[in-house]
Amino acid sequence: MQYEAKCTKCKSYSSNPLDYKCSCGSPLEVSTKSTFRKEAIKKNNYTIWRYSEFFPYIEENQIVSLGEGWSPLIRFAKNVYFKLDFLNPTGSFKDRGSSVLISSVHRMIKEMNGYISEDSSGNAGASIAAYAARAGLRARIYVPADVSGQKFNQIIFYGAEVERVAGNRGKVAAEAQKLEKGKFYIGHIWHPIFRDGIKTLTYEIFEQLEWMLPNRIYLPVSAGTLLLGVIRGLEDLVDSGIIEEFPKVITCQTRQVSPLYHRLKNLPYTLPEKITSIADALVSTNPPLLDLMVKKMREIGGDAEIVGEDEIYSAFIELARSGFHVEPSSAVAYAAYKKHVEKGEISGDEISVIVLTGFGLKSTLKP
Ligand SMILES: Cc1ncc(COP(=O)(O)O)c(C=O)c1O
Repeated sequence: MQYEAKCTKCKSYSSNPLDYKCSCGSPLEVSTKSTFRKEAIKKNNYTIWRYSEFFPYIEENQIVSLGEGWSPLIRFAKNVYFKLDFLNPTGSFKDRGSSVLISSVHRMIKEMNGYISEDSSGNAGASIAAYAARAGLRARIYVPADVSGQKFNQIIFYGAEVERVAGNRGKVAAEAQKLEKGKFYIGHIWHPIFRDGIKTLTYEIFEQLEWMLPNRIYLPVSAGTLLLGVIRGLEDLVDSGIIEEFPKVITCQTRQVSPLYHRLKNLPYTLPEKITSIADALVSTNPPLLDLMVKKMREIGGDAEIVGEDEIYSAFIELARSGFHVEPSSAVAYAAYKKHVEKGEISGDEISVIVLTGFGLKSTLKP
């Protein structure tokens, strides 16, 4: 089926999978979809590609996979489940988006003798580098000049070219997007196909809870690809008539970096002078998808929470001491859940799913 994406603002269409945003400058959203049907799931495929029917713009023979998806959903306490998405091939949930995005574009780019460009020194950079390697596609990852750490090491080991850029995060993005011969910017922060891949997380939760959704889903949020992807999956289930109402989606952010929380609560937000949070993956102070996140969260009646450094650290330690070694950025979602329990926001019979997004061995924290 022909690929099509629709602008979230001016409503014009694009049929080019290489367009990362609309010509008007606003985010695009994939509009080619097929109705969610349980019978269409490939039950013997234990990757996101069990849902290949719901990516009708991708042919089977163009799929680039490292075995991503179908991560365990573990019952942690009576009404609390953890979705272990840090168990993806590169150690984060981003592999869902990378697999679908790279599958969509690798042939076109190779035919044009081109290479992909992405801006991220973190999990997305590592994930895109891995899938480019799997596809035999050249990748250039733009990173801040002073970057180091496990995720950066991953990028290098996967064989991507690295371009260090002096200046702030905006400068890094601008360099990655700068037009150059043979370069195709497919940055995950913008690209609608990356977010479309994340919708598989919702499908899996629905399947793993035996065709039920939880009452509450707690997600760490920075650029918003995880949030918007999960909402996309929920919209699919509602549109297909399988579920009637949206569960409560709770966006979880650090006190330091919480532009979405403040917009959703109609509160003024002042940027910190310096970001020092241990949740070092949640650093989007001015996410390009902010308006879209606000719009969708209002449509589905979601909620937002913020947590401070002590809360994040103790959630991180509690998770580790229960056997779940995740990134502090992932612990933000558990910290927000705990805060809601303390505040009495969750009624006794409500079921919560907390998505654990990144593997603890990537963290730079020392014991
Ligand atoms: C481990 C981890 N959790 C959560 C997030 C937030 O995802 P998003 O930027 O899509 O909001 C990120 C983003 O880098 C991440 O690396």
